[in-house]
Amino acid sequence: MEKSFILKGNIAFSKDISHIETIENGYLVCIDGKSKGAFGAIPAEYEGLPLYDYGNSLIIPGMTDLHLHAPQYTFRGIGMDLELLQWLSTHTFPEEARYKDLEYARKAYRYFCYDLKRSFTTRACVFATLHTEATIELMDQIEDTGVIAYVGKVNMDRNGGEDLEEKDSDSSVAATLDWLKRIEGRYVNTKPILTPRFIPSCSDELMKKLGKMSDEKNLRIQSHLSENMSEVAWVGELVPDATCYANSYEIFGAMGSPDNPCIMAHCVYSDEKEMEILKKHGTYIAHCPNSNMNLTSGIAPVRKFLDQGIPVGIGTDVSAGSSMNMLRTILDTIMASKMYYRLVDTSSKPLAFEEVFYLATVSGGSYFGKVGSFEDGYEFDALVLDDSAMYSMRELSIRERIERSCYNDADCIIREKFVAGKHIFSRKQN
Ligand code: GUN
Ligand code: FE
Repeated sequence: MEKSFILKGNIAFSKDISHIETIENGYLVCIDGKSKGAFGAIPAEYEGLPLYDYGNSLIIPGMTDLHLHAPQYTFRGIGMDLELLQWLSTHTFPEEARYKDLEYARKAYRYFCYDLKRSFTTRACVFATLHTEATIELMDQIEDTGVIAYVGKVNMDRNGGEDLEEKDSDSSVAATLDWLKRIEGRYVNTKPILTPRFIPSCSDELMKKLGKMSDEKNLRIQSHLSENMSEVAWVGELVPDATCYANSYEIFGAMGSPDNPCIMAHCVYSDEKEMEILKKHGTYIAHCPNSNMNLTSGIAPVRKFLDQGIPVGIGTDVSAGSSMNMLRTILDTIMASKMYYRLVDTSSKPLAFEEVFYLATVSGGSYFGKVGSFEDGYEFDALVLDDSAMYSMRELSIRERIERSCYNDADCIIREKFVAGKHIFSRKQN
């Protein structure tokens, strides 16, 4: 399949954060991997293009999973009665330590990538482990899926135990430089991102050196911020001079800038002061509601982030989030916002379905450029969805069909997946 074609089906995409545009039996035009727009009839100039008719199926933009951990995928759904710090030391760190063994990593990452390819995710920001070989293996495999991703070799030089810790900041930096050198020019779709795990895993010197590397090499950073109460308290002890958790990254020069924005996952406990810092640096917040509920972390104030104009995307945070399913994550985002409104702050209105659909597509997608919509000029990421297993006695609108697909994700089946105009998955062929 070439990268210029027309898809026919029941189309939906965000016009802005509060409106979903829909076209029944409409046409999507893709030229050289870019969208030319959605139409009720084929514009004359595009009439000769190959046309793929998906009948009554839905066609929506691909989704961006702004935060997940590939090496945690194979133990998802296990150990979920623990809170963050205990969960890390009991389940996560021992599992990640096994990725020292390249054969183990290869096998586990095959399983992860098999499911990633079949998921609703077209773009992803992924944590690997601290191991260089295994990280390159993961990048090779993700490249093969066709999903476009940032992938990070994790940095950690303290509090990981002897099996999951780099010796000191110099050896962590040297391993990172070696990793970057070895992948230079190796991929079309897979990009490196600096990945200091979080403040408790990185010494002050390491954070400073990674901040400097980010500036000098124009490399982005992904990390965790204000996820859990015990973690926030611990960071307060580790960096006593900081005014808040975000300021700890800031004083080490590792908070990025609007031109080179970082992703901070969670931000459950980010207050007004922390939001100011996020805003100033153009930071993307990866909201991970399933994880925040599983680890009893809390509910992030997403409505407040949006009111402040801070960019927000949603993330599965596999495997503190127990599923890689982005439709499910849309639902979790909506439900968490309803509970925030009911139990925490009645001035923060629950997020509407339209708003969260926008976060999963356009807003998260914007971390990758013009991604997440079918408007003219966007990279053509599309999902063809079959919801026919959900029989309804009603005549449903396209918007209702997408909404119920999020509320019943198991009954919504992916038929086809396109990333930047490339057809990467078909249910028929797999
Ligand atoms: N904070 C530091 N590491 C992790 C991790 O692996 N998962 C989550 N959810 N939070 C973290
Ligand atoms: Fe995480």
